[in-house]
Amino acid sequence: MFNVALLEWFRENGRDLPWRQTRDPYAIWLSEIILQQTQVKQGWEYWERFMHRWPTVEALAAATEDEVLREWQGLGYYSRARNLHHAAKQIVALGHFPNTLEEIKQLKGVGDYTAAAIGSIAFGLPAAVVDGNVYRVLARHFGIDTPINTTEGKKLFAALAQELLPPNEAAAYNQAIMDFGAVQCTPQSPKCMECMLAESCEAMRSGRVNELPVKLKTLKVTERHLIYIYIRCQGQTAIRRRGSGDIWQGLWEPVLVDAESAVPPTARLLRQNVKHVLTHRVLYAHFYLLETDKRPKLPSDYIWIAESALDNYALPRLIEVLLSFLPK
Ligand code: ADE
Repeated sequence: MFNVALLEWFRENGRDLPWRQTRDPYAIWLSEIILQQTQVKQGWEYWERFMHRWPTVEALAAATEDEVLREWQGLGYYSRARNLHHAAKQIVALGHFPNTLEEIKQLKGVGDYTAAAIGSIAFGLPAAVVDGNVYRVLARHFGIDTPINTTEGKKLFAALAQELLPPNEAAAYNQAIMDFGAVQCTPQSPKCMECMLAESCEAMRSGRVNELPVKLKTLKVTERHLIYIYIRCQGQTAIRRRGSGDIWQGLWEPVLVDAESAVPPTARLLRQNVKHVLTHRVLYAHFYLLETDKRPKLPSDYIWIAESALDNYALPRLIEVLLSFLPK
């Protein structure tokens, strides 16, 4: 049995952490906020300093935000500190530490994960935690290749975690699976050869330990600046057809330069930072108008056409926007 074996592993290998020596919800909550984006090794001394300086939630609530932020210095993600201080005041106003999942979730900075962690560890509530460790351990042990960063994956892993949770040992089980992920079933170089769960591990059996969990690559949205110069020269303008290899392939565009320094000083700025959102790219366009009687020299792929003939050319939406800014 996965959960029985895990609890046994925890009894023998669980980490001896100071906030595990207490059931004080304040101390446990503080540890969970610190550990949200911080490793145990780094968070440990901050937890001790906070507990020493503000031993109770009342003491923390009475501090100033500046004092809390200064004590937090070095941990990063300062909204955690601001939320912590705000939530301390919420708790004092409530008159007791909230002890149901719904109430715990009302605290600023507390989401599903933190509520389940505090609820189970401080109050024994049967709520399964799902963090990066839990995804990894479950994906590997049960050989699940549903991507963890999809709605389907989140639902599936949350349901499985809840199903596996022994209701009467929620605190130990939740901490067991997190420790197991942090110490044994690590992202890189997991200690499979000395793992007491290896025999029932589906990833081990099928040789997929390094492939699980699966995470869909989120396509990075990149930003790009485009500088266009619309030339007006004796009723004509210069455009060129975009070559292959991009989403505007085959469409026509005015003169595109790659730096502000390439814009002639006589050109007039029409609009700056026109935002144009594409699927994987956000464009910021800068539009210039160059009115001149003398045709500037341009690369050979530009052609001169009558301005009145522009309607006959397929233009990207962004260039239509440019045209709308032209003075008549
Ligand atoms: N990471 C964050 N909270 C934890 C906990 N209670 N036990 C183990 N690892 C954790």
